Amino acid sequence: MKKLRVGILGATGAVGQRMIELLSDHPWFYVGEVCASDRSAGKSYLEAVNWRMTTPLAPEIAQKVVQSCRPPLAVDVVFSALPKEEAMRIEPEFAAFGLPVISNASAFRMHEHVPLVIPEINPDHTHMILEQQERKRWKGFIVTNPNCASIGVCLPLAVAQRAYGLRTVQVTTMQARSGAGFPGPSAAVIDDNVLPWIGGEEDKLETEPQKILGSIEQAADFSVSAQCNRVNVSDGHLECVSIGLRSKATAIDFISELQNFRPNQMVSSLPSSPSPAIQVFLEEDRPQPKLDRHVGRGMTVTVGRVRDCPVLDLKFVVLSHNTIRGAAGAAILNAELLLAQGFIKRD
Ligand SMILES: NC(=O)c1ccc[n+]([C@@H]2O[C@H](COP(=O)([O-])OP(=O)(O)OC[C@H]3O[C@@H](n4cnc5c(N)ncnc54)[C@H](OP(=O)(O)O)[C@@H]3O)[C@@H](O)[C@H]2O)c1
Repeated sequence: MKKLRVGILGATGAVGQRMIELLSDHPWFYVGEVCASDRSAGKSYLEAVNWRMTTPLAPEIAQKVVQSCRPPLAVDVVFSALPKEEAMRIEPEFAAFGLPVISNASAFRMHEHVPLVIPEINPDHTHMILEQQERKRWKGFIVTNPNCASIGVCLPLAVAQRAYGLRTVQVTTMQARSGAGFPGPSAAVIDDNVLPWIGGEEDKLETEPQKILGSIEQAADFSVSAQCNRVNVSDGHLECVSIGLRSKATAIDFISELQNFRPNQMVSSLPSSPSPAIQVFLEEDRPQPKLDRHVGRGMTVTVGRVRDCPVLDLKFVVLSHNTIRGAAGAAILNAELLLAQGFIKRD
């Protein structure tokens, strides 16, 4: 089967590098072009990047010339790992040029005609593309994946929403350094410390889950209160969550619902779809970022410490790899879904 040629916008950053790593042996996509800011454009990728992945940089990528982030670009699909302000300007240019844009950035996540997709939860939301294309008169389109902390928490929330209905969610995050992009917070700032503020993060966590767990027409009806902290962990966001339910359930019921969760057949057969999508730990001291962030090649969301909550109904801890499940892997899984659904064409 002919592989599709991908252009990565923001290819030198934390998410862009992870995309290159994950696409190195992908069965459907390969990296055709690497694009970054005008500071990097014209250099070889090797010169432009401070390669931070633990796998070696492939020679065929190292020698590519970095392109500017503007169309035309000779690719079949664009993956965007741009900062929000740049995404706001650049992503519509590529969609107008006729390319599918699969974005990690927050710029268009909450736009009413832009799908915000986690394939295991809301694969049907991609149908918003049709209205987006009609209104914008684009041949291409923009599809987004959620914030790195939203993705982890949304999987167990979707299970609770379907089984019992959600009323309220309280979430406190402990987010890894790599979530701040490269180079991230300096050692002087983050060592021996917890930073109790991440700009814009609480807003995203308080609004994205309702869009993802709702229907195309209407956001889900529950409230979220989020507190976000940066901690001195390299990769992997840990989140402590309490939930209030519309119909009562015990921790034992919820564990069984989590263990039985399966995405639909089309989604579970996608190359990056992890099995299981959610892994439940029964040990009282798991999940931990250092031990568990690579479960399912970084795509499985791990849940533990599921308990009855004396204030709301249930509480638990969730862990997800922020640059894989929370960013690059999420975008690739979305692209696989769009290809399987026919929104990305194989000409
Ligand atoms: N890190 C995470 O865990 C994570 C998770 C989910 C979503 N996200 C989102 O993904 C996006 C990328 O995050 P990141 O952590 O990878 O950031 P990053 O490490 O700071 O990388 C930013 C990338 O954007 C490029 N860039 C910067 N300014 C540009 C401009 N004016 N024109 C074109 N390219 C420009 C940079 O290129 P140069 O090297 O040339 O400057 C670099 O390739 C952000 O929107 C972020 O919110 C990140």
